[in-house]
Amino acid sequence: MNDPRRFAPATARNRDAILAVLRRFVVPGANVLEIASGTGEHAVYLAPRLEVASWQPTDPDADARRSIDAWRAEARADRVLPARELDMTAPWPRLTPAPDAIVCVNMIHIAPWSACLGLLDGAAAVLAPGAHLYLYGPYRRNGAHTAPSNEAFDASLRARDPAWGVRDLEAVTAEAAARRLALAEVVEMPANNLSVVLGKAAAPES
Ligand SMILES: C[S@@+](CC[C@H](N)C(=O)[O-])C[C@H]1O[C@@H](n2cnc3c(N)ncnc32)[C@H](O)[C@@H]1O
Repeated sequence: MNDPRRFAPATARNRDAILAVLRRFVVPGANVLEIASGTGEHAVYLAPRLEVASWQPTDPDADARRSIDAWRAEARADRVLPARELDMTAPWPRLTPAPDAIVCVNMIHIAPWSACLGLLDGAAAVLAPGAHLYLYGPYRRNGAHTAPSNEAFDASLRARDPAWGVRDLEAVTAEAAARRLALAEVVEMPANNLSVVLGKAAAPES
C-alpha cells in the first residue's frame, strides 16, 4: 500500500535539542504555528511533549502536506491539526487560533530571501507582544561560515538554486528588528546549527 509518510533522518537527530530550547518559550496550552513542516515528523514529536493546545503544521508542498497528515494519523496526534498550505513568499491567510508561537526549522536557507522576509512580516503581524518566533538552521556569523561543512552546504544550495543559501545571522536579525522582532537568544545546536529566538516587542507609545 502507498505510504505517503516521508522521512527526514535529520529530524531524529535534532528534535530533542530543539525541544529543549522550545520548552523555554512555548508554554503548555499554547497554540503553535509551524512554518515549512516538511515531513511532519517534528510536529508529531514536539506537539505532545510541549503539551500544546494545538500545533498547526504548514507547507506549500502538497506531497509534504500528505506526509504530515499521514504522520498525524499514524501517531494519533490529536493536538496536531491537519496540514495547511502556507507559502512564505505569498500573503498569509487569516489564522485561527492566532498563534502564541511560531516555529520554523530549516527553511530560510532552502528558499529565496523573500521567504525569510515573508516569514518575518507574517510573524510580526500575527504575534502578540511577548510571543516568540523560533528559527533553526545554519547561519553565517560576522560574515563568515561557522564550519567548513556549512560552507560546503552553502555552495551546494547555491548550485541547486542561486536564490538559496546559508543566511547571515546579522541580516536576519536586522530585518527582524525592523519589524519589532527583537533577538532574544541564540543557542548553538548540534551539527553547526543555531536556534534563533525572536521576541515580539510592544509598539512604542505614541
Ligand atoms: C529542508 S525542508 C525542512 C522541513 C522540516 N522543517 C524539517 O526540518 O525537516 C524545507 C521545507 O521548506 C519548505 N519551503 C520551501 N519554500 C517555502 C516557502 N516559500 N514557504 C514555506 N515553506 C517553504 C519546503 O516545502 C520544505 O518542506
